Amino acid sequence: MSELLSTDTLSIAFTLNGEAIETTAPAEISLTRILRDVLFRTETKIGCEIGRCGACMVLMNGQAINSCLVMAWQVDGAEIITGAGLEKLPITGIVRQALAEESSFQCGYCAPGFVISLVALLSEEPDATNDDLMTALEGNICRCTGYHSILRGAKLAAARVRDFGARTSAAQKTYAPETKAPETAVSEQA
Ligand code: FES
Ligand code: FES
Repeated sequence: MSELLSTDTLSIAFTLNGEAIETTAPAEISLTRILRDVLFRTETKIGCEIGRCGACMVLMNGQAINSCLVMAWQVDGAEIITGAGLEKLPITGIVRQALAEESSFQCGYCAPGFVISLVALLSEEPDATNDDLMTALEGNICRCTGYHSILRGAKLAAARVRDFGARTSAAQKTYAPETKAPETAVSEQA
């Protein structure tokens, strides 16, 4: 559990992509900054840093959240999954493959956030409708594509998850390092 070291610095412990992390961080910085600047896990991107663009999305205790809005003191004890840990969730391969087949992204900077949102939705709701997709992605901004290609990829992913059926049950939201994910093809490097 966390220990207040001073008025400015916290000791925090959490799980990152299945790995136990213990570190210290300034109390006023965000989870995005902890990941990138303290732990050097740069797969989580930075955009607006005010909760508007979705570039910084991660899974926190299974929920898609903007990590720029989570402060250091809120991270203690949490399970965090970034884009680098998503492949351990079987549904991720379906989502990434569908997005790749529809050439959903151009520069790819927004891709980790979109993938996080889609994995969170389709893990929770394998029968997601187009309206569900639109709602889930409304917090993700793309500066390149105009969204049509992303939505085509999202709809293809949703259709395949529906076909995936019982194997995409809620049980698969659990982080399962031993589970082999399908091949992935979407670049999330930027
Ligand atoms: S950087 Fe977090 S929402 Fe934009
Ligand atoms: S593909 Fe460039 S920001 Fe979305």
